Amino acid sequence: MNHIPRNAGAPATVLVTGGAGFIGSHACVDLLDHGYEVIVVDDHSNSTPQVLNRVERIAGRFVGAVYELDIRDRRALSAVFDRHRVDAVVHFAAHKAVGESTRMPVEYYDNNLGGTTSLLAAMRDHDVRRLVFSSSCSVYGDAGGGPLDESAPARPTNPYAASKWLCERVLADVCRHWTCLAVLCLRYFNPTGAHPSGLLGEDPNGEPDNLMPYVAQVAVGRRKRLRVFGGDYPTPDGTAVRDYLHVMDTVEAHRIALDRLSGSRGMRVFNLGSGQGSSVLDVVAAFSAACGRPIPYDVVERRPGDVPELVADARAVGRAWGWRPTRDLAAMCRDAWHFQQLNPHGYAGSARRPSIKE
Ligand code: UD1
Repeated sequence: MNHIPRNAGAPATVLVTGGAGFIGSHACVDLLDHGYEVIVVDDHSNSTPQVLNRVERIAGRFVGAVYELDIRDRRALSAVFDRHRVDAVVHFAAHKAVGESTRMPVEYYDNNLGGTTSLLAAMRDHDVRRLVFSSSCSVYGDAGGGPLDESAPARPTNPYAASKWLCERVLADVCRHWTCLAVLCLRYFNPTGAHPSGLLGEDPNGEPDNLMPYVAQVAVGRRKRLRVFGGDYPTPDGTAVRDYLHVMDTVEAHRIALDRLSGSRGMRVFNLGSGQGSSVLDVVAAFSAACGRPIPYDVVERRPGDVPELVADARAVGRAWGWRPTRDLAAMCRDAWHFQQLNPHGYAGSARRPSIKE
């Protein structure tokens, strides 16, 4: 374990909403590894509390406290801020399935937007002025080919994406009026992979929506065949192109964001991506190489709401912070496969961890 001292003036205690989720749990490890105190709030609607035992095992340190609550519960959330002197918040808690959002738009706006405004109210009441917000490249929608920088217009094509865009608008406007608030919105492209230990990874409840966990579950024999959604896109091999980003690179950017929030005000938005486009079939080939077995698949209809290509121009964050992803698609597949092999049924069956129920 590599303990690097916190930068002078950096926040000491970070509240992580959605800290038991895929990106949240990796962020907790990274923050603990770098000397932060971590408080987790999670309603476990798409995560298991057990994951935090593993976070502590990897980091060799304890998470300060874990609260099982829905952040829209203002009384309960306020009690967490009463109990801990929170210096900054990293806000991951959200519903995130594009397809589901088209069937449950009201729930997506209520949860994602309502959760964010409830969090802002608690931060205001407790004078917490630093926030890193988990946004999404999906705010760009169908923007055509070519790498997109942060000035590309927002044209969300589904309620999930629209809810992230609305959160960004609310945060920008609140920053204009609450002038000591400092917010960094990170628009991720496609975070995937796993912690190199194989202890943490992506373990969605039920059938995976996202490509990499689906491929991994086919590779390990939990699912028979991958469905490749659409083979007739205007891309080199006809399958949709995305910009995949290793989760360890993703969470490193969040930690740098926290450091950079100290002493700043207002809101900034950055893309987090690699600038490299990979098609669905590229991912299948890379995963096959990592696991040493073929991934059977069928090309089926396009998935509603999908766009042909989304690739980041992430040079702005590189210029501002010197952050660049260092792990390629082969490393993402290797680490995702390592996790899947060690945990063929995900976190099911690992030791139960009690959380504080508000
Ligand atoms: C979407 C969002 C992204 C969000 C992520 C979180 C868009 C454009 N992007 O990513 O912002 O962070 O969800 O969940 O809305 N695929 C298959 N078979 C499968 C699963 C996926 O072929 O079983 C294909 C998809 O059609 C897509 C690609 O793989 O072309 C990646 O899909 P996925 O992993 O679900 O991510 P996005 O939809 O790109």
